[in-house]
Amino acid sequence: MRFYIVVIIIAFAEAGVIDDTISCITIRGNNFEKEILKDHVESPYQLAIDHDTQTLFYSYTARAEDDMFYSALISLKTGLSAKVSGIRGGFANAINNNQNIVYMGGEDGIYKFDYKTKTATNLHIKDDVNIWQMFYKDGLYFTTYPDEKVYFYKNDEVVKVPALEHVKVMLIAADRNKNLVYFNSSGMFMYERDESKTVFLNDVVANGVTSDIESNIIFSTANGIYYFNDELKEVEQIADIDNVYGVAIESDGNIIYASENSIIRLRPTTKRCKVDIKWTQ
Ligand SMILES: *[C@@H]1O[C@H](CO)[C@@H](O)[C@H](O)[C@H]1NC(C)=O
Repeated sequence: MRFYIVVIIIAFAEAGVIDDTISCITIRGNNFEKEILKDHVESPYQLAIDHDTQTLFYSYTARAEDDMFYSALISLKTGLSAKVSGIRGGFANAINNNQNIVYMGGEDGIYKFDYKTKTATNLHIKDDVNIWQMFYKDGLYFTTYPDEKVYFYKNDEVVKVPALEHVKVMLIAADRNKNLVYFNSSGMFMYERDESKTVFLNDVVANGVTSDIESNIIFSTANGIYYFNDELKEVEQIADIDNVYGVAIESDGNIIYASENSIIRLRPTTKRCKVDIKWTQ
């Protein structure tokens, strides 16, 4: 009888362990738990973090007559979220972390965000384009939709990036050496500045690209989160998660990603992870 009870307790304990491990994921030998930062948000895209204020900016799909998308933010310190006003069809976000400037891209060009009023103001530097994505690296790179052109904004001047003038670009990033890593419907490419040449990197279809504070490039696809190893010029999957819509990296290295209807932080945990788990969002 006593043996029987012990067996039952062990069975329950094991069931407990399995429950514990369901919601965690192993990334490079470390285990992470999901922390939902925001749920009930429709198709959050284009995540960007202001490290100074610890604020995450993103866009989401609007069900409004006059706006396709809204820009919004979440404080990573308090969890409070807010919608940004003053911007038409706010979609893209990028931060100049040196000068603490938050840029937003809308249907009619580039805006600048003001924390006090939670409002964005059009900078009127190029109003005739619909902004798709933006990336800041010693200047603001941005792409447009539907023509998929790439521009660079610095010192009050907007120029086309000469090397990419005749190429379609949907997403762009720059690595620590200001080499351009970009994505279009043919795949992922790198324009090497020193050698003035373009190399094919991978045939991935990315939906978001970001960098961490050390200028490593990280991007997302519908199948997970990836790291671009710029020495080996190789793409490495860091998290196998389905339905990822975008990614950003906090200053301490934590991954934040968007799924179909929520924004999630991967927080380090000491719990054990079930090895074969595959998240579907
Ligand atoms: C994507 O970029 C590559 C490299 O610049 C280029 O060869 C290719 O034509 C581009 N694809 C499209 C659809 O423009």
